[in-house]
Amino acid sequence: MSAANAKPVPMLDVNRQNAPLLPEIDAAIAEVTRTGTFINGPACREFEEAMAARVGVEHAIGCASGSDALLLPLMAENIGPGDEVLLPSFTFFATAGAVARLGAKPVFVDILPDSFNIDPEDAARKITPATKAIIPVHLFGQAADMQALMALANEHNLVVIEDACQAIGSTAGGVAAGAIGHYGAFSFYPTKNLGGMGDGGLITTSDSEKADVIQRLRNHGQHPRYYHHLVGMNSRLDAMQAAVLNVKLQRLTEWGEARREHAERYTVEFIRRNVPLGLPIVVSGVSSVWNQYTVRVADGQRDALQQALSAVGIGSAIYYPVPLHLQGCFETLGYKQGDLPHTEQAAEGVLSLPMFPEMTVEEQDRVIEAVAEFCQGGATTAAPISVSINTPAAGANVDLPNSKAG
Ligand SMILES: Cc1ncc(COP(=O)(O)O)c(C=O)c1O
Repeated sequence: MSAANAKPVPMLDVNRQNAPLLPEIDAAIAEVTRTGTFINGPACREFEEAMAARVGVEHAIGCASGSDALLLPLMAENIGPGDEVLLPSFTFFATAGAVARLGAKPVFVDILPDSFNIDPEDAARKITPATKAIIPVHLFGQAADMQALMALANEHNLVVIEDACQAIGSTAGGVAAGAIGHYGAFSFYPTKNLGGMGDGGLITTSDSEKADVIQRLRNHGQHPRYYHHLVGMNSRLDAMQAAVLNVKLQRLTEWGEARREHAERYTVEFIRRNVPLGLPIVVSGVSSVWNQYTVRVADGQRDALQQALSAVGIGSAIYYPVPLHLQGCFETLGYKQGDLPHTEQAAEGVLSLPMFPEMTVEEQDRVIEAVAEFCQGGATTAAPISVSINTPAAGANVDLPNSKAG
């Protein structure tokens, strides 16, 4: 079969994951329907308890989305106008949106080029008397350098909210993401490693007082009912989502293992074929749960590679094409091109390849072949890529993906 006629390889296929679980999921949803408790109730409690145990924290509080899981801890810390919050520019918008929505100032920090995660030294340079918090993002599934960040936070009395939306199950120094900072924020958006059938989020913390505040804030600040000492919002985890997530959480470890195997295979095969791409590296002391397998493409060839893959039916994605410090809505903050060079370089060169637990070996082989063909200047490309970034040399002591399943 020619490449053009081969079956498409999706970037992600949530149906393939959900289909075999449908009888179990249907039964769990039917149970919610039978009890008639659609808000909170047993399914939500079960999920929150399971998540608290899994992450290793005292409290896990469900909410409506990962975006709200970032917003609610900021609200609990009274962060608002006049406050600054450090966060990477190379992340999904929600990380900065939560800060800006409260009237606080997002202060964008550059990334480390090897991990794509926030650079603790650049964060240190950007601390001012107004800095109140830092939001490290565990991007693409790999935990940020939490040791350095916690030391910085302790020194400057900063609140740490881990954006673990892409990194459920990853660890830093052997501790789970979401259990290291003061708070962890998780998303169950359908494309996440633990994806619901709609929106959902969760906050982790071991601070009982703040957990109590967040419980109230997610429910209009009321306690008892109709008595409001805080201005909160409606951000509860839907009981039907919790029912779905309870079923899926039981498979997360095995799915994580499959992701790790896929990542390892991509890396081994790309090195074996001398593919001149920047391959993702897992930094020593942390683990990745491979939400994405993201390569760097040099010489402005990224879009050409994406088009070449698309031409033979292979999905890929650019996370993220425009760094947050250069987004139109943050223009008034006064950033300009060149302010965060590692971030800008990443935005220009990254490409995420198909990655989901159910991806078959044949599908992965198609991706590997197509990428290799492009890089060798085959039919799909005018000029071969000549520069590599972070590419472990063939035969070198390769730092292979070493993530633990989530
Ligand atoms: C890093 C990061 N932070 C926050 C979010 C927001 O999560 P949600 O889409 O559930 O609101 C996402 C996911 O989309 C994310 O990837």
